[in-house]
Amino acid sequence: MKKSFFPNNKIVIASHNAGKVREIRDLIIPFGFEIASAADYGCEEPDETETTFEGNALLKARFVAEHCQCAALADDSGLVVPALGGEPGVYSARWAGENRDFNVAMAKVSERLTPDMDTRAYFVCALALVCPDGTELTFTGMCHGRLQFPPKGTFGFGYDPIFVMDGQMRTFGEMPYEEKKLYSHRTEAFKKFKTFLESC
Ligand code: IMP
Repeated sequence: MKKSFFPNNKIVIASHNAGKVREIRDLIIPFGFEIASAADYGCEEPDETETTFEGNALLKARFVAEHCQCAALADDSGLVVPALGGEPGVYSARWAGENRDFNVAMAKVSERLTPDMDTRAYFVCALALVCPDGTELTFTGMCHGRLQFPPKGTFGFGYDPIFVMDGQMRTFGEMPYEEKKLYSHRTEAFKKFKTFLESC
């Protein structure tokens, strides 16, 4: 493993979301890193002010790398609907309002996407790694499909109940986590990151 990337053999996960931290930790633990979360360092989360997933992931990783003086890994993800000019995009979480109610967010998508419009959509996940030696890398995964209304299924989170991946009949909301994981944008981004770690 390249020493300058990970000088203290440590990676701080730049998220306060326990689920995300667990998922990322599981993936990178086999590489022998010491793993910590931003919360372990009492590090706040910066505002996501960029206009791209990669930009926001880098912004979060940079903030934590500087605060903790360690390599930091952050992710940013969301749903892109080309017929809506790319919305909700980087604002996917914000469309759910202060109560984080994704029924509200999905209803908003449904209202704006009139029946004559193209229902194609894709999920994006950008992972950013920022190292103390100044190295900055991003790994992006995508999952293409279409939107279907009304929402279906109780698995997953966010926009899963309205998203049907290409080649599938059921929404992500109707797929148990282990099945969605086979195809998801997050898995694809993580695979790229894993390939990078294996090449270090
Ligand atoms: P983030 O925490 O800033 O990355 O926010 C991502 C938002 O995008 C989430 O709150 C969800 O609304 C949406 N999103 C990202 N990935 C998924 C997914 O796999 N399924 C459903 N919604 C997702």
